[in-house]
Amino acid sequence: MSSGNSYTPPNEMPQAPIHRVLVGQKALVTGASKGLGQAMAIGFARAGADVLVNYSTDLAGAEETARTIEGLGRRATIFKANVSKEDEVQAMFQHMFDTFGRMDICVPNAAIQLNARVDEMTLHQWQEVINVNLTGMFLCARESIRAFKRQGIDRSISYACGKLIFISSVHDIIPWEGHANYAAAKGGLMLFMKSLAQEVAHLRIRVNSISPGAIRTPMNVEKLTSPEMFESTLLNLIPSKRIGEPEDVSRLAVWLASDESDYVQGTTIYVDGGMTLYPGFIGAG
Ligand code: BGC
Repeated sequence: MSSGNSYTPPNEMPQAPIHRVLVGQKALVTGASKGLGQAMAIGFARAGADVLVNYSTDLAGAEETARTIEGLGRRATIFKANVSKEDEVQAMFQHMFDTFGRMDICVPNAAIQLNARVDEMTLHQWQEVINVNLTGMFLCARESIRAFKRQGIDRSISYACGKLIFISSVHDIIPWEGHANYAAAKGGLMLFMKSLAQEVAHLRIRVNSISPGAIRTPMNVEKLTSPEMFESTLLNLIPSKRIGEPEDVSRLAVWLASDESDYVQGTTIYVDGGMTLYPGFIGAG
């Protein structure tokens, strides 16, 4: 156990290959009622973890996630919270500890889009997106770091003191006209993540981001159901020539949450079929 900043973790690394990599771990996933959050919550359960399923509006989706987790023989608990509200986030973390007694993995994933060109963007559209997509990440990160430091390392569970995995976007480096609020939040998240990773690395708290490209989620359903847009626009942006599946992201989240990635710190991993490779240069330039 540790208290405050006085704790010095042992400088060791896992020796053996690890299977069922999250057995005994407790994970919190925000926005887990659908899309990537749902897939990651289920992926964690498949790897052996119990999961707090957070949602803000879609209770039915959260219940579906929880049922699937329980069907895998793991425990699930559902908690409604808007991640941009400090008191709701703190209540969610309290519920995590009341239910599971600890937290090993936190995945701030919940995000929204309110699209408008800048000259038409209302202050509300700007602030809502920053509040959920950036301030929400800060609030969940702060409560996680506090919890991880309180707990210290339990080697029977993980070599790390805790794992924080932010869900960002390719738009943390690719500009996106018409979505400047979203890109600003994701770009801000990149340096928030790296600064925090630097701040807590010595405590063996691991902090990383996953930046997905175009994935088959409800957020993207409009693009996917318009064949014209899908073929002529979206696929042109993806060198791998396929849309991503939520499982492409959840497999990576499981690995980042596990001791298999013990030496990975402060990194953004792009799961995007090559979207960040300047596909406009294919056959051009
Ligand atoms: C957005 C998707 C978009 C993708 C690639 C993601 O962050 O949520 O709507 O398709 O970036 O542009």
